[in-house]
Amino acid sequence: MQDKLHVLLSREQIIKKVEHLAQEISQEYQGEELLMICILKGAVVFFSDLIRSISVPVKIDFMAVSSYGKATKTSGVVQIIKDLDASLKGRHVVIVEDIIDTGLTLKYLVENLEARKPASLKICVLLDKVDCRQVEISADYQGFVIPDEYVVGYGLDCAEKYRNLADVCVLQRS
Ligand code: IMP
Ligand code: MG
Repeated sequence: MQDKLHVLLSREQIIKKVEHLAQEISQEYQGEELLMICILKGAVVFFSDLIRSISVPVKIDFMAVSSYGKATKTSGVVQIIKDLDASLKGRHVVIVEDIIDTGLTLKYLVENLEARKPASLKICVLLDKVDCRQVEISADYQGFVIPDEYVVGYGLDCAEKYRNLADVCVLQRS
C-alpha cells in the first residue's frame, strides 16, 4: 500500500493563521490569565506555535483522549487516556484541538470539563470539517474550514505517521 500526499495548507498559510488566532485570543483575554489545554497528541504542534504568540499570561496543561485508534473513521467512543494535572475551578480555559470532524470528541470534552466549573471555557481548533458534524458543536476560534478528506501533518497522524510534516496534507491511500 502506497500513500500519496497532497499539500492542502502550506506551512506559510498555517503560520499566518496561527498568528491571527493568537492575536484574537490575546485581545479577548486582556488582563486575565489563561489556562490552555493541549489535546494530545494531534494538537501538540499547533499548541506550541500558538502559545508562543499569545501576549497574555498563559499556563498550560495536557490531556489525551482516544476516539479513533488506528482506524480513519470515528468509533464514537471517547476515552480519557491522560487527565489534566490542574484544577479548572474559576479559571479561564481554552481547549486547543487539532481538528473537529464529527464533533464527538469535543462534545464529550466540553461536557467533561464544564463539570469542573471553570470561569469560562472556549474551544480553539486549527482545522474544521464543518460538513462532517454528527453533533452540534462549534469552535470559538477556528483556523481553516477544510473538506471531508483525511489530512495529516502539522501534528496530525495516520496510525502515528506524518505528524512531523510542516504542511497539512491530504492523504490518499491506494
Ligand atoms: P471527531 O470526534 O470526529 O470530531 O474527531 C476528532 C479527532 O479525530 C481529532 O482530534 C483527530 O485526532 C481525529 N481526526 C479527525 N479527522 C482527522 C483527519 O483528517 N486526520 C487526522 N486525524 C483526524
Ligand atoms: Mg485529536
